Amino acid sequence: MKVWILYGDDIDSTADLAFEMRRFLSEGEKMGLEVKAFKPNQFDLLVTEEKRDQIIIDGKWTDLPDFIFPYFNHSDHSYFSLAIVRQFERMGVNVFNNADTLERVRDKLHAHQILAEEELPTPDTMLAKFPVNVELVEETLGFPLIVKTLHGALGSGVFLIENAKSFEDLMTLVHETQPNILMIFQKFIASSKGRDLRILVVEGKVIAAMQRTAKAGDFKANFSQGGSVAKFEIDKKAADIAVKTAEALNIQVAGIDLLFTDDGYTICEANTFPGFKGLEKATNVNVPEAIYNAMLDHMRKKNPPTLVKKLLGA
Ligand SMILES: Nc1ncnc2c1ncn2[C@@H]1O[C@H](COP(=O)(O)OP(=O)(O)O)[C@@H](O)[C@H]1O
Ligand SMILES: [Mg+2]
Repeated sequence: MKVWILYGDDIDSTADLAFEMRRFLSEGEKMGLEVKAFKPNQFDLLVTEEKRDQIIIDGKWTDLPDFIFPYFNHSDHSYFSLAIVRQFERMGVNVFNNADTLERVRDKLHAHQILAEEELPTPDTMLAKFPVNVELVEETLGFPLIVKTLHGALGSGVFLIENAKSFEDLMTLVHETQPNILMIFQKFIASSKGRDLRILVVEGKVIAAMQRTAKAGDFKANFSQGGSVAKFEIDKKAADIAVKTAEALNIQVAGIDLLFTDDGYTICEANTFPGFKGLEKATNVNVPEAIYNAMLDHMRKKNPPTLVKKLLGA
């Protein structure tokens, strides 16, 4: 199986997901797979009905792989990168995760809209609108309150606002300096302050789960924000919500974050480019191997080639 991973940074750097890229390459080699990494800017997209089995890389026509795995930088929200994924999809290449999924999931409000439609538990969430109706926010969501940028990742765009006064001050500042910023307001799940669960779901199966605990004084449990990690013996309730979340959002390789409530869990968010340095450390699960095995299964299910050949007497 030939797998191409789309990754925008230097693999030998300390960039976000570079560690994971090195793991993908070395595990792929161990499994006897042909795994290559390409940067989005190496592609040129020529759309033609004439050539359906090749794509242009570094100016040269190149045969298509069996599988594409977009693993973009978290800040890459470019049209170009999504268009590359679509080009592969439209030429029949298998893709984990597909372009529609990437687009759906990176919009945190859209993801919550879909989860609420499926009657899955999520904290009440409101799209920011200026001028902000502070009374309505207080009435519906209450304080303290979580403010998130719509496309944030790694915890960097998430804030805890203690009261109406600080909220009003912050909104005045934002309105004056960044009037076009897209943000959501969300009910603060106090019972989960400083801790959450990260569950890796691949093709509908739970692969690994860990509890993350924020560093002292912080409310954000992200590993990238200095949170500590520990293996979590996942119960049926959490596994069920995680699998249903991945299914509702149609994510094949999903990092699902759950928050602890008094009687179970609520969904914090879903991720399509899950990092797994902390997860492997906490659980000893071989994440790239699990993902490659899911790809192999997917290919076998889609077109069992040896079986077909045998049946055809070839
Ligand atoms: N509604 C909430 N209530 C309590 N804690 C939250 C809430 N939303 C986020 N957090 C905390 O902030 C962290 C980052 O939030 P998240 O929505 O996952 O953003 P990011 O995409 O940046 O990781 C979470 O892992 C969790 O610890
Ligand atoms: Mg998160």
